[in-house]
Amino acid sequence: SDRFRIAIDGPAGAGKSTVARRVAERLGFLYVDTGAMYRALTLKVLEWGAAWEDRSQLARIARESRVELVPAPETPRGNQVFLDGREVTEAVRSPQVGRYVSRLAAVAAVRDVLVEQQRALAARGGVVMDGRDVGSVILPDAELKIFLTATPEERVRRRWAELRAQGFDVTWDDVARDVSERDRLDQARSASPLRRMPDAVEVETTGRDVDAVVDEILRLVERRR
Ligand code: C5P
Repeated sequence: SDRFRIAIDGPAGAGKSTVARRVAERLGFLYVDTGAMYRALTLKVLEWGAAWEDRSQLARIARESRVELVPAPETPRGNQVFLDGREVTEAVRSPQVGRYVSRLAAVAAVRDVLVEQQRALAARGGVVMDGRDVGSVILPDAELKIFLTATPEERVRRRWAELRAQGFDVTWDDVARDVSERDRLDQARSASPLRRMPDAVEVETTGRDVDAVVDEILRLVERRR
């Protein structure tokens, strides 16, 4: 039915947003990029020069900010991102935001604010949501949970190509360092660490067409509807 909810989690560069967006398009579902919400708040903390050690200040920024995702299926990432009414879709993809986002995402009080908003976005169902804690925390009773993976080298290659295409002058080594540091922090944190849930279906994307991965997920949806 239309209440169906699909949770897609996995490490950086596994292809979550590309796959999630296309699955949503094929089903006529809403696509929600939860990582973009952490990125938008990270941008604000960087702009304000807030202290990263001050968790209560970070939580206050999260509570007092307005982060909006507007569905934009025709755009490369499928969502436009607004922070306090200002469009930050491009700005949140910067390497600098990428370097800091996992620090903010490790703060439990910040996560509480975003998780509540993310659950509200999924409340009507008919949704594909991607992130790190969708199947574990945001939608623990999602009708389908996917854990998307790819080899570390493939994940670095994708991130590198994405950043270069956006015009950022990053080296392979920079990207490799950032991706592995982000994965390490996302898996090691005590607040909602990234991990594969026992009821998630693991889908490997290395060397596969996006369409093949999307079709595999659509078959899983069919079986459970
Ligand atoms: O998905 P993306 O790579 O844009 O996410 C950026 C970061 O936001 C992740 O590395 C992680 O630290 C954080 N995040 C999270 N929980 C989510 C989505 C993203 O902690 N549901």
